[in-house]
Amino acid sequence: MASKVRNVILCLSCLLLFVGPSSSLLETLVQGQEVKDGDELVSAQGNFKLGFFTLESNNYYLGIWYNDNRQRQDNLVWVANRDSPIFNNSGSLTIDDNGNLKISHGGGLPIVLYSGQGGSNTSAVLLDTGNFVLRELNNSEELWQSFDYPSHILVPGMKLGVNRKTGHTWSLTSWRGVVVPDLGVFTFGMDSNHTNQLVILWHDNIYWTSGSLERGHFTSSFSGISDSYYNFSYISNENETFFNYSVETSFTKSPRLVIDYLGRLSDDRGILVDCISRFSGSSKVERCMPAQLPECRSPDDVFYSHFTFMYNDGFKFSESENLTVMDCEAKCLNNCSCVAYASTIEDAQTGVRFGLAHRQDLMDL
Ligand SMILES: *[C@@H]1O[C@H](CO)[C@@H](O)[C@H](O)[C@H]1NC(C)=O
Ligand SMILES: *[C@@H]1O[C@H](CO)[C@@H](O)[C@H](O)[C@H]1NC(C)=O
Ligand SMILES: *[C@@H]1O[C@H](CO)[C@@H](O)[C@H](O)[C@H]1NC(C)=O
Ligand SMILES: *[C@@H]1O[C@H](CO)[C@@H](O)[C@H](O)[C@H]1NC(C)=O
Ligand SMILES: *[C@@H]1O[C@H](CO)[C@@H](O)[C@H](O)[C@H]1NC(C)=O
Ligand SMILES: *[C@@H]1O[C@H](CO)[C@@H](O)[C@H](O)[C@H]1NC(C)=O
Ligand SMILES: *[C@@H]1O[C@H](CO)[C@@H](O)[C@H](O)[C@H]1NC(C)=O
Ligand SMILES: *[C@@H]1O[C@H](CO)[C@@H](O)[C@H](O)[C@H]1NC(C)=O
Ligand SMILES: *[C@@H]1O[C@H](CO)[C@@H](O)[C@H](O)[C@H]1NC(C)=O
Repeated sequence: MASKVRNVILCLSCLLLFVGPSSSLLETLVQGQEVKDGDELVSAQGNFKLGFFTLESNNYYLGIWYNDNRQRQDNLVWVANRDSPIFNNSGSLTIDDNGNLKISHGGGLPIVLYSGQGGSNTSAVLLDTGNFVLRELNNSEELWQSFDYPSHILVPGMKLGVNRKTGHTWSLTSWRGVVVPDLGVFTFGMDSNHTNQLVILWHDNIYWTSGSLERGHFTSSFSGISDSYYNFSYISNENETFFNYSVETSFTKSPRLVIDYLGRLSDDRGILVDCISRFSGSSKVERCMPAQLPECRSPDDVFYSHFTFMYNDGFKFSESENLTVMDCEAKCLNNCSCVAYASTIEDAQTGVRFGLAHRQDLMDL
């Protein structure tokens, strides 16, 4: 009997060794700790995880994603260093002695997410909303939160709009390509005229408008975000003007509104807003701004996109122009001698650089 009890105690103590403080189960990062590549923070109820991830390329990013087994692209909600990838798995998130929240890595200067004021006592917690919040411990003051720096994805609890006191805007910015998180050419946010509508911009041009918000829904009958699953609110006071929203979760446990590199808006059900198809006779063109076309093009033209590698030597843009696939499409549309466009780099879907073909024999459209 006694030996049995001793066995149990022994087992408990070895168990304790294994479940003891482990950086992969905590929701909070305190000063002096680090989240290394491979470690994860998990929110209290287990809804979200924070950690480093990589896509098809050898670029590493710090991000937040729904805690499920889908591919990272499909459950991601936030990317911290989209314009500053780390080139190997040396990344580490810390709060240093001065209160800086930063990503250190082997390849150069750290990426600072929040600049502390020396000597502060702070910690950062991953909440079950998907928000990562840095707080001063002595008075719980919020110093920084990931929801204030949206990536290309909106989740309930986030805002789209502007803080009138600081001028800080909350908006989404698309990626540059399928697996290229760098800032792309589409933004999704509140109309800068502070009218109660949402807009998608291509560069600074209006690309799509939601119509104004009435009783939780946008007036555009074709706008996919206007359906019964979405309840938007528009709030405007002396401090801030913004939209927020809630989602009827019967269609998804992991609500996300995503603006993709082609300027399309989608959720877990599929594409909700798609202005690309305004040239292919699709019916989903409601509220897309008509393109300003030269006389040689007609809105009825059937226009094909070819995201494949171009072997022919057609006309090429200088790589320094750094075009996305949609920039290239616009260039092609506006140049009457253009019959097709394609990538000049083999990994076409990443779409960082594109060329424009002018040879009439390139394609038989
Ligand atoms: C990561 O890359 C940097 C240079 O970019 C190098 O100095 C460092 O040793 C590498 N670290 C690892 C863990 O490979
Ligand atoms: C909390 O800490 C900060 C930074 O050290 C300090 O400036 C502030 O006065 C402290 N607040 C309280 C209530 O102690
Ligand atoms: C930081 O704040 C925590 C909680 O208020 C406190 O227990 C701890 O002693 C503080 N640390 C320092 C270095 O002030
Ligand atoms: C905002 O106002 C300017 C000037 O009146 C107008 O040109 C622009 O189209 C408006 N933006 C939207 C999204 O309506
Ligand atoms: C939509 O949200 C508003 C504000 O949060 C709330 O008052 C209203 O009841 C909600 N409507 C529906 C249909 O859920
Ligand atoms: C605006 O901010 C001030 C200062 O933080 C606060 O006292 C006030 O209640 C805020 N107003 C609204 C409508 O939230
Ligand atoms: C939107 O923001 C308002 C004001 O902060 C808040 O009262 C409301 O609960 C928020 N709605 C949602 C759906 O988050
Ligand atoms: C292209 O432009 C984007 C945004 O301006 C920038 O982040 C990226 O580094 C540029 N890429 C190249 C290859 O110049
Ligand atoms: C159209 O493309 C040709 C190259 O084939 C170029 O010389 C011309 O300047 C372009 N026209 C416009 C309006 O961009």
